[in-house]
Amino acid sequence: ATERTLSIIKPDAVAKNAIGEIESRFEKAGLKIVAAKMLQLSQEQAEGFYAEHSERPFFGALVGFMTSGPVVVQVLEGENAIAANRDLMGATNPKEAEAGTIRADFAESIDANAVHGSDSPESAAREIAYFFEDSEICSR
Ligand code: CMP
Repeated sequence: ATERTLSIIKPDAVAKNAIGEIESRFEKAGLKIVAAKMLQLSQEQAEGFYAEHSERPFFGALVGFMTSGPVVVQVLEGENAIAANRDLMGATNPKEAEAGTIRADFAESIDANAVHGSDSPESAAREIAYFFEDSEICSR
């Protein structure tokens, strides 16, 4: 089925000037970018986005990293977009990510891991609504 998923290019990948190469992987895999913007997240925005992790020991480091520089947030649309994006990203820990995945090629560590992608239809709906109004999404 056609799905939408939220993708974030994290501060490490933006700092590496890898925005275009990462977007290109989505497009070459048949995912369409139907909304996109660059943002400097505030602490409140990062904490709210990652609220489900608020009790985890890495929460402070995660919020600190995600506010360390600009990010690109985007909505990807396509056949099985949620799983397709996760396949393109590779494992959360780049040391475990398969060769040829975004994290294997661009990520340095489990914290600075280049990209985020929604992990379920429920989180995709929440995460898309967190950053985008319906009127900002250009389905095509
Ligand atoms: P992301 O997909 O953005 O979701 C939460 C982030 O927390 C994750 O990517 C990692 O960058 C970061 N993180 C740091 N430590 C861990 C951990 N032990 N398990 C899962 N995520 C972690």
